[in-house]
Amino acid sequence: MHVIKIAEDRSLRWVEVPDPVIKDDEILIDVRAAALNRADLLQRAGHYPPPPGWPDWMGLEVAGTVSKAPADSRWQVGDKVCALLGGGGYAEQVAVPADMVLPIPEGLSFVEAAAIPEAFATSHLNLCIEGGLQSGDTAFIQAGASGLGVAAIQLAKAIGAKVVTTVGSDDKAALVNRLGADVVINHRKENVAEVLARHPVNVAMDCVAGPDLGSYLETVAAGCRWIVIATLGGSTSDINMNSFFRRGIKLIGSTLRSRTTQMKAEILADLEKQYWQAFSSRQIQLLIHKALPITQAEQAHAILERNENLGKVVLTIE
Ligand SMILES: NC(=O)c1ccc[n+]([C@@H]2O[C@H](COP(=O)([O-])OP(=O)(O)OC[C@H]3O[C@@H](n4cnc5c(N)ncnc54)[C@H](OP(=O)(O)O)[C@@H]3O)[C@@H](O)[C@H]2O)c1
Repeated sequence: MHVIKIAEDRSLRWVEVPDPVIKDDEILIDVRAAALNRADLLQRAGHYPPPPGWPDWMGLEVAGTVSKAPADSRWQVGDKVCALLGGGGYAEQVAVPADMVLPIPEGLSFVEAAAIPEAFATSHLNLCIEGGLQSGDTAFIQAGASGLGVAAIQLAKAIGAKVVTTVGSDDKAALVNRLGADVVINHRKENVAEVLARHPVNVAMDCVAGPDLGSYLETVAAGCRWIVIATLGGSTSDINMNSFFRRGIKLIGSTLRSRTTQMKAEILADLEKQYWQAFSSRQIQLLIHKALPITQAEQAHAILERNENLGKVVLTIE
């Protein structure tokens, strides 16, 4: 089969590798679409290796057709599925533990379905499991127009939370408004901490962190759960620990990729139970910025590098 490999000079090459062999608890998927994630850029730069047991090429989520499955499995050859991966999605085929796989919600394309697993599992893990978000709470979501942000805004609204979010341009602001965000902050024009002070946050999913984090924590509601999931804005910040401990703030670090297969399976099962109908009815939207053939993976990465995308960028395989 062919996969996108990272060459020594960090360019991306469509090369031939041996076909995957499935283990007892795995199924084989013929990949039709593989969605991009920011983590792919980190992996390409050599900073985010895949967990043990996964291929060394990129790709955290795919959609496609089952081509091999154990006899006692939920899955049969020909089923249309999407899957959460530890890596290896930029490929013609991928072997996946059966409980990392979900059916494609009725009526969705392969491209749309590939955009579900990573963003919605990350949103559910952080907003619901780590953050305990409840109806009536205020949720703060950084980078609201990112692939992850568009998922998180919609989950938070489905739960009944008020959503405060950041974006870097007017067209991104218009998009997150359409998705139901209540307060939209353009971080290039406005002072984020000043706006947050008017909307005390109960749960934050923060992929920016950096030097401004300390000033944001000064504005939050008592007992706030502030979950850092990346450090796009930088890795250090001064925090006033006095006001932090007195108000009972919980500062949490979280990655989906490092969770156990069992926990990921539980998250995926929750998603299927709670939201599959909402995907089929388009009550929750999959926002695809662009779909490109997998041989154009370089161009696809460049879209993310330029922070251009509104929603997800997806690679397709004919
Ligand atoms: N820990 C986890 O388990 C986990 C899982 C999934 C994703 N993530 C993280 O979540 C983030 C979003 O992922 P994604 O795949 O959805 O990314 P994406 O679609 O590439 O979007 C990232 C967006 O972040 C904003 N941004 C970039 N640099 C920034 C900076 N210095 N300060 C403020 N905003 C900045 C830009 O939007 P604007 O133009 O609007 O500023 C950019 O378009 C990434 O950092 C990713 O690593 C973490």
